[in-house]
Amino acid sequence: MEEMQEKIRKVFAERFGGEGTLYASAGRINLIGEHTDYNGGFVFPGAIDKVIMAEIRSNGMQKCRVFSIDINQYVEFGLREEDAPKEGWARYIFGVCREVIKRGGTVEGFDAVFAGNVPLGAGLSSSAALESCFAFALNDMFNGNSIDKFELAKIGQGTEHNYCGVNCGIMDQFASVFGKKGNLIRLDCRSLEHEYFPFDPDGYKLVLIDSVVKHELKDSPYNRRRESCERVAKALGVETLRDADMKMLDAVKSEITAEDYFRAKYVIEEKDRVLAVCDALLKGDYKTVGEKMYETHRGLSKDYEVSCEELDFLNDIARENGVTGSRIMGGGFGGCTINLVPDEIHDRFIADAKKRFAEKYGHEPKVYDVIISDGARRISE
Ligand code: GLA
Repeated sequence: MEEMQEKIRKVFAERFGGEGTLYASAGRINLIGEHTDYNGGFVFPGAIDKVIMAEIRSNGMQKCRVFSIDINQYVEFGLREEDAPKEGWARYIFGVCREVIKRGGTVEGFDAVFAGNVPLGAGLSSSAALESCFAFALNDMFNGNSIDKFELAKIGQGTEHNYCGVNCGIMDQFASVFGKKGNLIRLDCRSLEHEYFPFDPDGYKLVLIDSVVKHELKDSPYNRRRESCERVAKALGVETLRDADMKMLDAVKSEITAEDYFRAKYVIEEKDRVLAVCDALLKGDYKTVGEKMYETHRGLSKDYEVSCEELDFLNDIARENGVTGSRIMGGGFGGCTINLVPDEIHDRFIADAKKRFAEKYGHEPKVYDVIISDGARRISE
């Protein structure tokens, strides 16, 4: 963190002179509750110790001048709708500005330099970290922190919907804004009621194994999953699949496609798994937590079909090594698995996963031990 901060300070001073204010926000993990957020269900995420950090200062113009250290690219854009930049990363920042303005908030021109260590394409929501870092900063700098945290999360989500083409749920941005050190958040995505759960599993580590593969699939498969769910909800006459159960689903089986049936089946089953995991965690019952994680993987792989060969392979290796729980995490189609690993088998499991994955796919996966940390914040005066 300190190294990143120094680098940002240096680049900012070189580019714009003087200094601005430093802000950061975090990527996230999700213990369980995948593809449930846009179905009004429950999720169980937490912010992690991987951040996007930005130094920002108002520049008195109607223009934003932003430099990305990691991409080594400088972009300027205005604040009107027609000023949208074409660079993908800059659209996240522009989108946040526009979403603040649309809500009646104030945004003036600013200079910014940012960097990060949230792995890209790993399913850790680097984009939500970027959005919530800037949403938090614009609220602090131009709006006297009058925009509440729920709205900050929705500003990030609106950015994805309206400027980045991803019809995502609220989980990533919520975790990134509300994240609290040492705590997971059980979030009801329909009411946005949420509860912090202290998370420090005694005798276990949470480990991410990043396949470093990203299958760019045509036709936005994430959005298509969401459409399937919405079609089934409509056939059932409910607002979202949150209000459905298997009996209801089976009753309309002949009216919907087999594909939609299995998508909805996964979502309905996942809803109960999240609550079961929260209960088990309170009792320190990690065995149940782990079993549910494996069930989620199976559902995501076979019914929801968002896994891929590499992630199924990592899941098999986890099971064979006696890892308590393992599953694909995030939107899918690549990225990482999240693993609940007993301390005593940690090193052996990681070594085996690296070796066998490299033999099969020609490169080692990346491994991250997860530390649950704070979300969006200001880190300097
Ligand atoms: C992505 C989306 C989230 C959520 C997950 C799947 O991370 O941004 O809203 O739907 O996929 O759980």
